Amino acid sequence: MTLGIESSCDDTAAALVDASGVRASVVASQLVHRKYGGVVPELASRAHQQQVVPVVRAALEQAGMTRADVEAVAVTYGPGLAGALHVGLSFAKAYAFALGVPLVGVNHLEGHVYSVRMPGALGEEQSAPPLPYLCLVVSGGHTVLVRVDEGFRHTVLATTRDDAAGEAFDKVGKMLDLGYPAGPAIDKLAAQGDAGFHTFPSVRQEATEPGHIASFSFSGLKTAVLYHLRDVPERAAYLERHLADVCASFQRTVTRGLVAVLRDAVRTTDVRHVAIVGGVSANRGLREEAEAAAQADGFDLYVPAPRFCTDNAAMIAYTGAVKLAAGHRSEMTLRAEPSLPLGMG
Ligand code: KG4
Ligand code: ZN
Repeated sequence: MTLGIESSCDDTAAALVDASGVRASVVASQLVHRKYGGVVPELASRAHQQQVVPVVRAALEQAGMTRADVEAVAVTYGPGLAGALHVGLSFAKAYAFALGVPLVGVNHLEGHVYSVRMPGALGEEQSAPPLPYLCLVVSGGHTVLVRVDEGFRHTVLATTRDDAAGEAFDKVGKMLDLGYPAGPAIDKLAAQGDAGFHTFPSVRQEATEPGHIASFSFSGLKTAVLYHLRDVPERAAYLERHLADVCASFQRTVTRGLVAVLRDAVRTTDVRHVAIVGGVSANRGLREEAEAAAQADGFDLYVPAPRFCTDNAAMIAYTGAVKLAAGHRSEMTLRAEPSLPLGMG
């Protein structure tokens, strides 16, 4: 029974996972950042301090367990906000030390990457992807496509040159007064709009790194939306009529670019198992577009249930348990690594 702790950004989360699957998963999202239109690091750390103990208690309660049942503690140690990571890490170390159980540090991105292999993360009839598989991580902080092999080996095939996909949703949402985070609101509006209403520049770019198959850029798209809104006469009236159309056109541009690179990757690597994870993988347009590509090109698509797409501690507990089983274990000297890359094991 592994207790997972996640505090890398603005969600304080705890979960209990064992071989049969997720026994409890609790996420306290910090609403304090909403009025600032983005995450304020200092406020995030303070909120994590207030939430970490109640969230762990709630997870134990949800699973009908006590702390004596916890056999290992897995914790996110990066990447993320330094102060936010420190809170979860200090708590996890103290908890593991007091219980005399092993501690294992987990890379937040690896948590997303392996979330699709966690029992219960996918729909009931779908089994986990076998290794190797391709995995697109699309979240508020990251946009990276990797090939995942045995032994926690990850080969990066594409990354973003500038913003992350989720960040693009949030920034465009801010221009449209849709609050923060804006991904879910844009997703909802896009469903009622005409995606062919306006053509924005593609987010798919030539590869800039050796060995990569492509790269992404979201800043040109963001600027194009800004200029489009600046140049229309009577902006308020225009948005009253066309808000859903602008959202649909923007969203289609993002999802088309992401899916085009996935298709390139399948063609180049001939790996026919493809996962999409991270907050943006909850996007309905992206799921539909990727599903259509999977049918057309004959690959298998794996996307977690929405509650496991956005930040959660179940993916951290699960990945930690897999790492422990493979012989990984962290010392009490484990430090927060705000810029931790997706590692090679
Ligand atoms: O993985 P996540 O919860 O946190 C990070 O690790 O960043 O991702 C959060 C991001 C936010 O940018 C949010 O706007 C975006 O995921 N997001 C969505 C949707 N749900 C969340 N973007 C598009 N469509 C959605 N349905
Ligand atoms: Zn995340």
